[in-house]
Amino acid sequence: MSQHVPVVTIDGPSGTGKGTIAQLVAKHLGWHLLDSGALYRIVAIGIADLNIFHNEVNKICDFAASMKVEFSTEFEGSISLNGKEISHAVRLEETAEKASQVAALGPLREVLLERQRKFCQPPGLVADGRDMGTVVFPSADLKIYLTASPEERAQRRYKQLINKGVGVNLRALLQDIASRDERDANRQVSPLRPAQDAVVIDTTALTIEQVLESVLAQVSLALPETSK
Ligand code: DC
Repeated sequence: MSQHVPVVTIDGPSGTGKGTIAQLVAKHLGWHLLDSGALYRIVAIGIADLNIFHNEVNKICDFAASMKVEFSTEFEGSISLNGKEISHAVRLEETAEKASQVAALGPLREVLLERQRKFCQPPGLVADGRDMGTVVFPSADLKIYLTASPEERAQRRYKQLINKGVGVNLRALLQDIASRDERDANRQVSPLRPAQDAVVIDTTALTIEQVLESVLAQVSLALPETSK
């Protein structure tokens, strides 16, 4: 019998602190991390480089099936696509927008399914995304769903980008977030929604430390062996 590898999924829309929390939880537990949003972002970058259009679904799937992706294990570490360093491009707002468009393609989601499941390796996995608890790891040991008001999420993203020296407009950011939420939540395949058995945490009025504390408390309840 194969060994059970514990999985914690952390889903929710962008700007909820999901990525940071997933990284911190993975580090705390000494587990692997899957940043599934990065995979959709990487596909968006790769197809743009090859001048593949969003309606050329077969070409997109072929690209995604053969792309060679490497994530460094460090915090906010480097990402390479077919040997080319693309960490900066991956985090751009324009990449997020393109990623949200390709993420609506059912056949692409199918192609990425197995690649995502391969991240499930001992001693455990923290998986961050939109459909980790509903589709990719439906039998995860713990499913967390983070939310926050769109205004708060836009504010957080605004601060993040300003700190990185990227000039942005808060209103435009709020509109972008709202339209991406709408697309992610209303697409036909794997729409953004909490799994029925997810623990939903509203992070609007919480600091990252408070969210982390609350997620780790859930981890101890669901996986008591991790806190020994
Ligand atoms: O989490 P993120 O901002 O890096 O995600 C980028 C886009 O990819 C987002 O608009 C939704 C999509 N996505 C998805 O559809 N499914 C996932 N598991 C992760 C991300």
